[in-house]
Amino acid sequence: MFGKSRMLTVLLTIGLLGALLLSACAPTQPQAPAGGAPAAQGPSGKLEMFSWWTAGGEADGLNAMYAIYKQRYPNVEIINATVAGGAGTNAKAVLSTRLTGGDPPDSFQLHAGLEVEKYEPNKYLQTLDDLYAAEGWEKVFPKDLITLLKYEGHFWGVPVNIHRSNVLWYNKQIFADNNLQAPANWDEFFAVAETLKAKGLVPLVIGTKEGWEAGHTFETVLASVLGAEKYNGLWTGATPWTDPKVTEALEVFKKIMTYANADHAALTWSDAAQYLVDGKGAMHIMGDWTDGWFTSKGYTGYGWAPVPGTKGIFVALSDSFAAAKGARNQENLMNWLKLAGSKEGQEAFNPKKGSICARTDCDPKLFNAYLQSAMEDWSRDAIVPSVAHGAAAIEKWATVYKDILTTFATKGDVAAAQAALQQACVDSGVCK
Ligand code: GAL
Repeated sequence: MFGKSRMLTVLLTIGLLGALLLSACAPTQPQAPAGGAPAAQGPSGKLEMFSWWTAGGEADGLNAMYAIYKQRYPNVEIINATVAGGAGTNAKAVLSTRLTGGDPPDSFQLHAGLEVEKYEPNKYLQTLDDLYAAEGWEKVFPKDLITLLKYEGHFWGVPVNIHRSNVLWYNKQIFADNNLQAPANWDEFFAVAETLKAKGLVPLVIGTKEGWEAGHTFETVLASVLGAEKYNGLWTGATPWTDPKVTEALEVFKKIMTYANADHAALTWSDAAQYLVDGKGAMHIMGDWTDGWFTSKGYTGYGWAPVPGTKGIFVALSDSFAAAKGARNQENLMNWLKLAGSKEGQEAFNPKKGSICARTDCDPKLFNAYLQSAMEDWSRDAIVPSVAHGAAAIEKWATVYKDILTTFATKGDVAAAQAALQQACVDSGVCK
Protein backbone atom coordinates (compact mmCIF):
# COMPACT_ATOMS: atom_id res chain seq x y z
CA MET A 1 0.00 0.00 0.00
CA PHE A 2 1.16 3.62 -0.44
CA GLY A 3 3.02 4.85 2.61
CA LYS A 4 5.85 2.44 3.33
CA SER A 5 8.93 2.27 1.21
CA ARG A 6 10.88 -0.85 0.51
CA MET A 7 14.61 -1.38 0.30
CA LEU A 8 16.05 -2.85 -2.86
CA THR A 9 17.40 -6.27 -2.06
CA VAL A 10 20.89 -7.36 -2.94
CA LEU A 11 19.33 -9.96 -5.17
CA LEU A 12 17.47 -7.38 -7.19
CA THR A 13 20.60 -5.31 -7.60
CA ILE A 14 22.45 -8.34 -8.89
CA GLY A 15 19.54 -9.09 -11.20
CA LEU A 16 19.56 -5.53 -12.49
CA LEU A 17 23.29 -5.59 -13.20
CA GLY A 18 22.93 -8.93 -14.94
CA ALA A 19 20.09 -7.67 -17.06
CA LEU A 20 22.01 -4.53 -18.00
CA LEU A 21 24.98 -6.64 -19.05
CA LEU A 22 22.74 -8.89 -21.09
CA SER A 23 21.01 -6.01 -22.80
CA ALA A 24 24.37 -4.42 -23.58
CA CYS A 25 25.30 -7.62 -25.47
CA ALA A 26 21.95 -7.99 -27.22
CA PRO A 27 21.73 -7.19 -30.96
CA THR A 28 20.13 -3.83 -31.64
CA GLN A 29 16.69 -3.67 -33.21
CA PRO A 30 16.58 -2.31 -36.78
CA GLN A 31 15.39 1.29 -36.50
CA ALA A 32 12.14 2.25 -38.20
CA PRO A 33 12.33 5.45 -40.25
CA ALA A 34 10.67 8.47 -38.60
CA GLY A 35 7.53 8.82 -40.74
CA GLY A 36 7.49 8.18 -44.49
CA ALA A 37 7.47 4.71 -46.02
CA PRO A 38 6.91 1.67 -43.76
CA ALA A 39 10.11 -0.04 -42.64
CA ALA A 40 10.90 -3.21 -44.51
CA GLN A 41 12.26 -4.70 -41.32
CA GLY A 42 11.25 -4.64 -37.71
CA PRO A 43 8.37 -6.21 -35.85
CA SER A 44 5.12 -6.85 -37.66
CA GLY A 45 1.73 -8.38 -36.84
CA LYS A 46 -0.63 -6.93 -34.28
CA LEU A 47 -0.81 -5.43 -30.82
CA GLU A 48 -4.12 -5.55 -29.00
CA MET A 49 -4.41 -3.10 -26.15
CA PHE A 50 -7.55 -3.12 -23.98
CA SER A 51 -8.83 -0.17 -21.92
CA TRP A 52 -11.89 1.88 -20.96
CA TRP A 53 -10.42 5.08 -22.31
CA THR A 54 -12.98 6.41 -24.74
CA ALA A 55 -13.73 9.86 -23.24
CA GLY A 56 -11.97 13.05 -24.37
CA GLY A 57 -8.58 13.43 -22.75
CA GLU A 58 -8.22 9.73 -21.95
CA ALA A 59 -8.54 8.68 -25.57
CA ASP A 60 -6.27 11.57 -26.62
CA GLY A 61 -3.58 10.46 -24.19
CA LEU A 62 -3.71 6.89 -25.42
CA ASN A 63 -3.60 8.03 -29.05
CA ALA A 64 -0.52 10.13 -28.32
CA MET A 65 1.26 7.00 -27.15
CA TYR A 66 -0.03 4.98 -30.08
CA ALA A 67 1.38 7.63 -32.41
CA ILE A 68 4.88 7.10 -31.01
CA TYR A 69 4.45 3.33 -31.19
CA LYS A 70 3.35 3.51 -34.83
CA GLN A 71 6.31 5.66 -35.66
CA ARG A 72 8.70 3.19 -34.06
CA TYR A 73 6.99 0.06 -35.36
CA PRO A 74 5.16 1.03 -38.54
CA ASN A 75 4.48 -2.56 -39.54
CA VAL A 76 2.52 -3.36 -36.40
CA GLU A 77 -1.23 -2.91 -36.49
CA ILE A 78 -2.63 -1.61 -33.21
CA ILE A 79 -6.02 -2.93 -32.20
CA ASN A 80 -7.48 -0.40 -29.79
CA ALA A 81 -9.95 -2.55 -27.87
CA THR A 82 -12.11 -0.38 -25.63
CA VAL A 83 -15.16 -0.95 -23.48
CA ALA A 84 -16.59 2.42 -22.42
CA GLY A 85 -17.60 3.16 -18.84
CA GLY A 86 -15.81 5.26 -16.22
CA ALA A 87 -13.52 3.51 -13.73
CA GLY A 88 -13.74 0.38 -15.87
CA THR A 89 -17.25 -0.50 -14.68
CA ASN A 90 -17.99 -2.45 -17.84
CA ALA A 91 -14.48 -3.13 -19.07
CA LYS A 92 -13.31 -5.15 -16.08
CA ALA A 93 -16.06 -7.75 -16.48
CA VAL A 94 -15.35 -8.16 -20.19
CA LEU A 95 -11.65 -8.46 -19.48
CA SER A 96 -12.19 -11.18 -16.87
CA THR A 97 -14.24 -13.19 -19.34
CA ARG A 98 -11.57 -12.82 -22.00
CA LEU A 99 -8.78 -13.89 -19.66
CA THR A 100 -10.57 -16.90 -18.26
CA GLY A 101 -11.90 -17.83 -21.70
CA GLY A 102 -8.41 -18.03 -23.23
CA ASP A 103 -8.89 -15.01 -25.49
CA PRO A 104 -6.70 -12.38 -23.81
CA PRO A 105 -5.80 -9.03 -25.32
CA ASP A 106 -2.01 -8.60 -25.34
CA SER A 107 -2.02 -5.74 -22.85
CA PHE A 108 -4.69 -4.17 -20.70
CA GLN A 109 -5.36 -1.34 -18.30
CA LEU A 110 -4.90 -2.30 -14.66
CA HIS A 111 -4.89 -0.10 -11.57
CA ALA A 112 -1.78 -0.33 -9.46
CA GLY A 113 -2.65 -1.94 -6.13
CA LEU A 114 -4.91 -4.72 -4.99
CA GLU A 115 -7.10 -4.71 -8.11
CA VAL A 116 -4.68 -7.18 -9.69
CA GLU A 117 -5.94 -9.90 -7.33
CA LYS A 118 -9.18 -10.02 -9.35
CA TYR A 119 -7.37 -11.34 -12.42
CA GLU A 120 -5.64 -14.24 -10.65
CA PRO A 121 -2.23 -13.00 -11.74
CA ASN A 122 -0.41 -16.27 -11.17
CA LYS A 123 -2.69 -17.89 -13.70
CA TYR A 124 -3.43 -15.18 -16.25
CA LEU A 125 -0.72 -12.53 -16.12
CA GLN A 126 2.97 -12.38 -16.91
CA THR A 127 5.30 -11.19 -14.17
CA LEU A 128 7.24 -8.18 -15.33
CA ASP A 129 10.17 -8.38 -12.91
CA ASP A 130 12.74 -8.96 -15.67
CA LEU A 131 11.42 -6.03 -17.68
CA TYR A 132 11.63 -3.76 -14.63
CA ALA A 133 15.21 -4.84 -14.07
CA ALA A 134 16.17 -4.41 -17.72
CA GLU A 135 14.60 -0.94 -17.95
CA GLY A 136 15.89 0.20 -14.55
CA TRP A 137 12.36 1.18 -13.52
CA GLU A 138 12.83 0.70 -9.80
CA LYS A 139 15.00 3.82 -9.97
CA VAL A 140 12.58 6.04 -11.89
CA PHE A 141 9.27 5.22 -10.21
CA PRO A 142 8.77 6.52 -6.66
CA LYS A 143 9.35 3.99 -3.87
CA ASP A 144 5.75 4.21 -2.62
CA LEU A 145 4.48 3.41 -6.09
CA ILE A 146 6.90 0.49 -6.39
CA THR A 147 5.49 -0.85 -3.12
CA LEU A 148 1.94 -0.51 -4.42
CA LEU A 149 2.81 -2.20 -7.71
CA LYS A 150 4.24 -5.32 -6.10
CA TYR A 151 1.72 -8.02 -5.43
CA GLU A 152 2.88 -11.31 -3.97
CA GLY A 153 6.43 -10.12 -4.52
CA HIS A 154 6.12 -9.46 -8.26
CA PHE A 155 5.43 -6.66 -10.70
CA TRP A 156 2.33 -7.19 -12.84
CA GLY A 157 1.85 -3.83 -14.53
CA VAL A 158 3.84 -0.89 -15.89
CA PRO A 159 2.55 2.37 -14.39
CA VAL A 160 1.95 5.14 -16.86
CA ASN A 161 0.59 7.83 -14.54
CA ILE A 162 -0.55 9.08 -11.16
CA HIS A 163 -4.09 10.41 -10.77
CA ARG A 164 -5.57 12.30 -7.84
CA SER A 165 -9.14 11.49 -6.85
CA ASN A 166 -9.79 14.29 -4.32
CA VAL A 167 -10.20 17.36 -6.50
CA LEU A 168 -12.99 19.93 -6.30
CA TRP A 169 -13.49 21.51 -9.71
CA TYR A 170 -15.46 24.73 -9.98
CA ASN A 171 -16.73 27.17 -12.54
CA LYS A 172 -14.58 30.28 -12.04
CA GLN A 173 -17.10 32.64 -13.59
CA ILE A 174 -19.90 31.53 -11.27
CA PHE A 175 -17.61 31.86 -8.27
CA ALA A 176 -16.44 35.33 -9.36
CA ASP A 177 -19.99 36.52 -10.10
CA ASN A 178 -21.03 35.50 -6.59
CA ASN A 179 -17.89 36.66 -4.81
CA LEU A 180 -17.07 33.15 -3.67
CA GLN A 181 -13.79 31.42 -2.83
CA ALA A 182 -13.09 27.71 -3.17
CA PRO A 183 -14.27 26.20 0.15
CA ALA A 184 -11.47 24.83 2.36
CA ASN A 185 -13.67 22.85 4.75
CA TRP A 186 -17.22 21.48 4.83
CA ASP A 187 -18.68 24.45 6.74
CA GLU A 188 -17.40 26.73 3.99
CA PHE A 189 -18.64 24.30 1.37
CA PHE A 190 -22.18 24.35 2.74
CA ALA A 191 -22.13 28.16 3.05
CA VAL A 192 -21.05 28.43 -0.61
CA ALA A 193 -23.67 25.86 -1.59
CA GLU A 194 -26.42 27.85 0.17
CA THR A 195 -25.43 31.03 -1.67
CA LEU A 196 -25.50 29.23 -5.01
CA LYS A 197 -28.77 27.50 -4.28
CA ALA A 198 -30.37 30.83 -3.39
CA LYS A 199 -29.34 32.04 -6.86
CA GLY A 200 -31.09 29.08 -8.48
CA LEU A 201 -27.83 27.34 -9.47
CA VAL A 202 -26.96 23.69 -8.93
CA PRO A 203 -24.21 23.93 -6.27
CA LEU A 204 -22.69 20.49 -6.86
CA VAL A 205 -22.96 18.36 -9.96
CA ILE A 206 -22.50 14.63 -9.75
CA GLY A 207 -23.37 11.67 -11.96
CA THR A 208 -24.02 8.35 -10.25
CA LYS A 209 -25.14 6.42 -13.32
CA GLU A 210 -22.27 3.98 -13.55
CA GLY A 211 -22.28 2.92 -9.93
CA TRP A 212 -18.78 4.05 -8.88
CA GLU A 213 -19.09 7.82 -8.67
CA ALA A 214 -20.78 7.99 -5.25
CA GLY A 215 -18.07 5.70 -3.86
CA HIS A 216 -15.48 7.95 -5.47
CA THR A 217 -16.94 11.09 -3.88
CA PHE A 218 -17.28 9.36 -0.52
CA GLU A 219 -13.65 8.19 -0.39
CA THR A 220 -12.64 11.84 -0.60
CA VAL A 221 -15.07 12.71 2.22
CA LEU A 222 -13.65 9.84 4.30
CA ALA A 223 -10.11 11.14 3.78
CA SER A 224 -11.30 14.60 4.77
CA VAL A 225 -13.17 13.62 7.93
CA LEU A 226 -10.81 10.87 9.14
CA GLY A 227 -7.45 12.31 8.07
CA ALA A 228 -4.75 10.35 6.26
CA GLU A 229 -3.78 7.92 9.00
CA LYS A 230 -7.26 6.85 10.08
CA TYR A 231 -8.33 6.67 6.44
CA ASN A 232 -5.46 4.26 5.72
CA GLY A 233 -6.58 2.23 8.72
CA LEU A 234 -9.95 1.56 7.08
CA TRP A 235 -8.21 -0.65 4.53
CA THR A 236 -5.94 -2.47 6.96
CA GLY A 237 -8.43 -3.09 9.77
CA ALA A 238 -6.77 -0.54 12.09
CA THR A 239 -9.79 1.80 11.84
CA PRO A 240 -13.12 0.03 12.32
CA TRP A 241 -15.92 1.06 9.99
CA THR A 242 -18.06 1.46 13.12
CA ASP A 243 -15.92 4.48 14.08
CA PRO A 244 -17.94 7.66 14.84
CA LYS A 245 -15.86 9.46 12.22
CA VAL A 246 -17.32 7.17 9.55
CA THR A 247 -20.80 8.15 10.79
CA GLU A 248 -19.77 11.78 10.49
CA ALA A 249 -18.45 11.23 6.96
CA LEU A 250 -21.74 9.60 5.94
CA GLU A 251 -23.65 12.55 7.41
CA VAL A 252 -21.47 14.98 5.44
CA PHE A 253 -21.98 13.02 2.22
CA LYS A 254 -25.73 12.89 2.82
CA LYS A 255 -25.82 16.65 3.26
CA ILE A 256 -23.68 17.14 0.14
CA MET A 257 -26.26 15.21 -1.86
CA THR A 258 -28.97 17.69 -0.83
CA TYR A 259 -27.12 20.26 -2.96
CA ALA A 260 -26.67 17.96 -5.96
CA ASN A 261 -28.46 17.86 -9.30
CA ALA A 262 -31.71 15.89 -9.13
CA ASP A 263 -30.87 13.94 -12.29
CA HIS A 264 -27.58 12.51 -10.96
CA ALA A 265 -28.66 8.89 -11.44
CA ALA A 266 -28.95 9.53 -15.19
CA LEU A 267 -25.50 11.11 -15.63
CA THR A 268 -21.94 9.82 -16.04
CA TRP A 269 -18.94 11.69 -14.61
CA SER A 270 -18.38 13.50 -17.90
CA ASP A 271 -22.08 14.38 -18.29
CA ALA A 272 -21.80 15.97 -14.85
CA ALA A 273 -18.62 17.82 -15.83
CA GLN A 274 -20.50 19.18 -18.85
CA TYR A 275 -22.82 21.01 -16.39
CA LEU A 276 -19.79 22.99 -15.26
CA VAL A 277 -18.79 23.78 -18.83
CA ASP A 278 -22.34 24.94 -19.59
CA GLY A 279 -22.46 27.10 -16.45
CA LYS A 280 -25.42 25.09 -15.13
CA GLY A 281 -23.55 23.74 -12.13
CA ALA A 282 -20.87 25.29 -9.93
CA MET A 283 -18.79 22.50 -8.36
CA HIS A 284 -17.87 18.90 -9.16
CA ILE A 285 -15.85 16.39 -7.13
CA MET A 286 -13.96 14.07 -9.45
CA GLY A 287 -10.50 12.75 -10.27
CA ASP A 288 -8.12 14.74 -12.38
CA TRP A 289 -8.95 12.96 -15.63
CA THR A 290 -11.49 15.82 -15.56
CA ASP A 291 -8.59 18.15 -16.28
CA GLY A 292 -7.81 16.13 -19.42
CA TRP A 293 -11.47 16.08 -20.37
CA PHE A 294 -11.87 19.87 -19.92
CA THR A 295 -8.73 20.38 -21.97
CA SER A 296 -10.04 18.15 -24.75
CA LYS A 297 -13.19 20.34 -24.83
CA GLY A 298 -11.10 23.51 -25.06
CA TYR A 299 -12.68 24.62 -21.77
CA THR A 300 -10.46 26.79 -19.58
CA GLY A 301 -13.00 28.35 -17.20
CA TYR A 302 -12.39 25.87 -14.39
CA GLY A 303 -10.72 26.34 -11.06
CA TRP A 304 -9.59 23.59 -8.70
CA ALA A 305 -8.89 22.96 -5.05
CA PRO A 306 -8.45 19.91 -2.87
CA VAL A 307 -11.81 18.49 -1.78
CA PRO A 308 -12.75 20.46 1.39
CA GLY A 309 -10.68 19.30 4.35
CA THR A 310 -8.15 17.38 2.25
CA LYS A 311 -5.41 19.95 1.79
CA GLY A 312 -2.18 18.04 2.35
CA ILE A 313 -3.79 14.70 1.46
CA PHE A 314 -3.43 13.19 -2.02
CA VAL A 315 -5.87 10.33 -2.64
CA ALA A 316 -3.92 8.53 -5.31
CA LEU A 317 -4.34 5.92 -8.00
CA SER A 318 -2.21 4.82 -10.88
CA ASP A 319 -3.06 3.30 -14.23
CA SER A 320 -0.72 0.59 -15.37
CA PHE A 321 -0.59 -1.76 -18.33
CA ALA A 322 -0.37 -5.47 -17.75
CA ALA A 323 0.75 -8.35 -19.97
CA ALA A 324 -1.55 -11.31 -20.43
CA LYS A 325 -0.13 -14.81 -20.20
CA GLY A 326 -0.48 -16.44 -23.60
CA ALA A 327 -0.45 -13.06 -25.35
CA ARG A 328 -0.53 -13.60 -29.11
CA ASN A 329 1.98 -10.85 -29.90
CA GLN A 330 4.70 -11.11 -27.29
CA GLU A 331 7.38 -8.97 -28.95
CA ASN A 332 4.92 -6.20 -29.81
CA LEU A 333 3.54 -6.35 -26.31
CA MET A 334 6.95 -5.94 -24.71
CA ASN A 335 7.72 -2.99 -26.97
CA TRP A 336 4.42 -1.44 -25.89
CA LEU A 337 5.23 -1.84 -22.21
CA LYS A 338 8.69 -0.37 -22.71
CA LEU A 339 7.11 2.67 -24.33
CA ALA A 340 4.53 2.98 -21.55
CA GLY A 341 7.25 3.10 -18.93
CA SER A 342 9.50 5.46 -20.87
CA LYS A 343 9.94 9.20 -20.43
CA GLU A 344 8.93 9.84 -24.02
CA GLY A 345 5.75 7.78 -23.68
CA GLN A 346 4.72 9.34 -20.39
CA GLU A 347 5.45 12.89 -21.51
CA ALA A 348 3.22 12.34 -24.55
CA PHE A 349 0.41 10.63 -22.62
CA ASN A 350 -0.02 12.50 -19.37
CA PRO A 351 -0.49 16.16 -20.38
CA LYS A 352 -3.46 15.00 -22.47
CA LYS A 353 -4.76 12.44 -19.99
CA GLY A 354 -4.86 14.92 -17.12
CA SER A 355 -2.43 13.00 -14.96
CA ILE A 356 1.15 13.36 -13.88
CA CYS A 357 3.90 10.96 -14.83
CA ALA A 358 4.54 7.87 -12.77
CA ARG A 359 8.21 8.57 -13.54
CA THR A 360 9.98 11.19 -11.51
CA ASP A 361 11.93 12.71 -14.43
CA CYS A 362 9.23 14.21 -16.69
CA ASP A 363 9.56 17.85 -17.71
CA PRO A 364 7.00 19.95 -15.74
CA LYS A 365 7.00 22.58 -18.50
CA LEU A 366 5.02 20.19 -20.71
CA PHE A 367 2.11 20.26 -18.25
CA ASN A 368 -0.63 22.82 -17.62
CA ALA A 369 -1.05 24.82 -14.41
CA TYR A 370 -3.35 22.29 -12.75
CA LEU A 371 -1.00 19.39 -13.42
CA GLN A 372 2.01 21.35 -12.23
CA SER A 373 0.16 21.97 -8.96
CA ALA A 374 -0.64 18.25 -8.76
CA MET A 375 3.07 17.46 -9.17
CA GLU A 376 3.91 19.71 -6.25
CA ASP A 377 1.19 18.20 -4.08
CA TRP A 378 2.26 14.66 -5.01
CA SER A 379 5.78 15.43 -3.85
CA ARG A 380 4.81 16.79 -0.43
CA ASP A 381 1.30 15.54 0.55
CA ALA A 382 0.36 12.48 2.58
CA ILE A 383 -0.40 9.86 -0.07
CA VAL A 384 -3.37 7.57 0.58
CA PRO A 385 -4.84 4.95 -1.76
CA SER A 386 -8.11 5.26 -3.68
CA VAL A 387 -10.60 2.44 -3.21
CA ALA A 388 -12.85 3.40 -6.11
CA HIS A 389 -9.88 2.96 -8.46
CA GLY A 390 -8.25 -0.25 -7.43
CA ALA A 391 -5.49 0.80 -5.07
CA ALA A 392 -6.79 0.24 -1.52
CA ALA A 393 -8.78 -2.98 -1.54
CA ILE A 394 -9.39 -6.17 -3.44
CA GLU A 395 -11.96 -5.76 -6.19
CA LYS A 396 -14.66 -7.80 -4.47
CA TRP A 397 -14.60 -5.48 -1.46
CA ALA A 398 -14.31 -2.34 -3.58
CA THR A 399 -17.36 -3.41 -5.60
CA VAL A 400 -19.51 -3.93 -2.50
CA TYR A 401 -18.27 -0.60 -1.12
CA LYS A 402 -19.29 1.19 -4.34
CA ASP A 403 -22.72 -0.48 -4.37
CA ILE A 404 -23.38 0.57 -0.78
CA LEU A 405 -22.55 4.17 -1.58
CA THR A 406 -24.64 4.25 -4.75
CA THR A 407 -27.65 3.11 -2.73
CA PHE A 408 -26.80 5.55 0.04
CA ALA A 409 -26.67 8.46 -2.43
CA THR A 410 -30.42 8.08 -3.00
CA LYS A 411 -31.65 6.43 0.23
CA GLY A 412 -29.51 8.30 2.76
CA ASP A 413 -29.82 5.68 5.53
CA VAL A 414 -26.67 6.34 7.56
CA ALA A 415 -27.00 3.43 10.01
CA ALA A 416 -27.72 0.90 7.26
CA ALA A 417 -24.82 2.11 5.12
CA GLN A 418 -22.37 2.06 8.02
CA ALA A 419 -23.39 -1.44 9.08
CA ALA A 420 -23.03 -2.64 5.48
CA LEU A 421 -19.60 -1.02 5.17
CA GLN A 422 -18.41 -2.77 8.33
CA GLN A 423 -19.80 -6.07 7.07
CA ALA A 424 -18.03 -5.61 3.73
CA CYS A 425 -14.75 -5.20 5.58
CA VAL A 426 -15.41 -8.36 7.58
CA ASP A 427 -16.38 -10.29 4.44
CA SER A 428 -13.16 -9.24 2.76
CA GLY A 429 -11.22 -10.81 5.61
CA VAL A 430 -9.67 -7.54 6.79
CA CYS A 431 -11.96 -6.72 9.74
CA LYS A 432 -12.89 -9.06 12.56
C1 GAL B 1 -10.20 5.55 -13.45
C2 GAL B 1 -8.97 5.49 -14.28
C3 GAL B 1 -8.75 6.80 -14.93
C4 GAL B 1 -9.99 7.24 -15.65
C5 GAL B 1 -11.20 7.19 -14.76
C6 GAL B 1 -12.50 7.57 -15.41
O1 GAL B 1 -10.47 4.31 -12.88
O2 GAL B 1 -7.88 5.17 -13.49
O3 GAL B 1 -7.66 6.72 -15.79
O4 GAL B 1 -10.17 6.40 -16.75
O5 GAL B 1 -11.32 5.92 -14.22
O6 GAL B 1 -12.90 6.65 -16.35
